[in-house]
Amino acid sequence: MANPKPSTPVPAPVHKVRKAVLPAAGLGTRFLPATKAQPKEMLSVVDKPLIQYVAEECVASGIEHIIIVTGKGKNAIEDHFDSAPALERFLEDHGKKDLAEMVRKITNMVQVSYTRQKEPLGLGHAVLVARDLVGDEPFAVLLGDVIIPGPRPATRQLVEVYEATGVGAIAVEEVPREKTHLYGIVAGDPAPQPPWGARLQRIRDLVEKPKPEKAPSNLAITGRYVLPPEIFDCLARTKPGAGGEIQLTDALRILAQERGLWAYIYEGVSYDAGDKLGFLKATVEIALQNAELGGDFRKYLKSLQL
Ligand code: UTP
Repeated sequence: MANPKPSTPVPAPVHKVRKAVLPAAGLGTRFLPATKAQPKEMLSVVDKPLIQYVAEECVASGIEHIIIVTGKGKNAIEDHFDSAPALERFLEDHGKKDLAEMVRKITNMVQVSYTRQKEPLGLGHAVLVARDLVGDEPFAVLLGDVIIPGPRPATRQLVEVYEATGVGAIAVEEVPREKTHLYGIVAGDPAPQPPWGARLQRIRDLVEKPKPEKAPSNLAITGRYVLPPEIFDCLARTKPGAGGEIQLTDALRILAQERGLWAYIYEGVSYDAGDKLGFLKATVEIALQNAELGGDFRKYLKSLQL
């Protein structure tokens, strides 16, 4: 394996990535009124809440322990992953063993812990409140409202990069130049090396929502990260930024400078389902791939003759 050369390369002792933090304490204002009394992470795409897609990505990536950061009004998330003996019994008594098994699987798929962000003080702050539960080991972060379906989970790809190099990695994807002002954008230097080739870049800087003419690239941060535990010290040193929030991007900038950080152009497609249009796109595309509904849904869409 070639050596990574981040700005200041300080590879951490490599440990297996066993834990993932799922921040899910935001207010979801872009999706009001749907999110007035229900968590946006519980909005369903086809038949599953967003947070279940994210938890399934964790399991498919080898994660053993999920830490969900919740806040006020988010109890439905805990209920979803909790056991439901009365429902299971009802389904079994009515001959619906398959459904009972499906409900049971949600509870048993992985160990889930919860911690609470008392106020939505930003994504960086949400990650910081999980510090004690993560401890001194590397971990993944998956935004609770971004889904990346597909056979090769983005988190798995990042875990492979981290476990081979000992340097944190964040997923990025190309966005149209004229849309850079909607995303965190990375400034990176190509660092091609097998087996990842040109997908790997060494991060020089990260810029929050730059105008197209100021953007250092069109590579946008996607909502999946694998980070060494040193990120917590970086977060603790991060002052509130835009909107009085503690931004994860600001702490990642410190991490990139002090220990190095990869941007990894992952294979796959993400949907920002916390945004109404992103949610609709996810719904249509996942419904089209659904074994039970896909065929009829495709016929229906064609019949609309758009
Ligand atoms: P977003 O910025 O998409 O979430 O954060 P938000 O603030 O809920 O959304 P809008 O802009 O008001 O619609 C990405 C993820 O980080 C979590 C959110 O729950 C979401 O899953 N988050 C964000 C926190 O856990 N705490 C925060 O303080 C902010």
